[in-house]
Amino acid sequence: MSKRVSIVAGVVMAALLTGLSGNVAAAEANKKVGKVYFKMICTVCHMTSSGKAIPPNTRTMKEWQAYLDADKHDATGKTNPKVSYYLSRAYRETVKGSNKAAEKFLAMPDAEAAANVRAFVVGGAKDSDTPASCE
Ligand code: HEC
Repeated sequence: MSKRVSIVAGVVMAALLTGLSGNVAAAEANKKVGKVYFKMICTVCHMTSSGKAIPPNTRTMKEWQAYLDADKHDATGKTNPKVSYYLSRAYRETVKGSNKAAEKFLAMPDAEAAANVRAFVVGGAKDSDTPASCE
């Protein structure tokens, strides 16, 4: 009986561990995709339009979360008012001809693009374990 319990416990543990490492791997993958999206779609425009990158390490994790939750883009009035627009297929459609990442990620669901970019900027915030510049 106790042997069976420990076998069951072992199987449960193994399942939990695989599940956990699966989640960690998925989170890492999202962050990597988010990094490419951010650099190739967001930063490219920041550089050409204002000459300055806005890297993840310029804000705290809390600031990035609040920024994305508010869904406002910037205060200049010259861009789309919503940051979610730049995470959408609608925006990717407009630049796919000249932007390889937009073309590659064209069919990515908007919510997935948002989650990936969020994972990258929050994961690279200045108070995170892995602050990320745009290099
Ligand atoms: C079409 C060009 C363009 C794209 C694409 C773009 N941005 Fe921007 N973004 C700008 C401009 C212009 C500003 C204003 C820069 C300034 O203050 O001079 C800005 C500002 C910002 C700011 C600073 C806002 C503030 O009030 O401090 C953040 C954060 C930001 N963008 C995030 C993003 C993210 C994330 C994406 C991609 C999902 C993105 N942007 C895509 C042009 C763009």
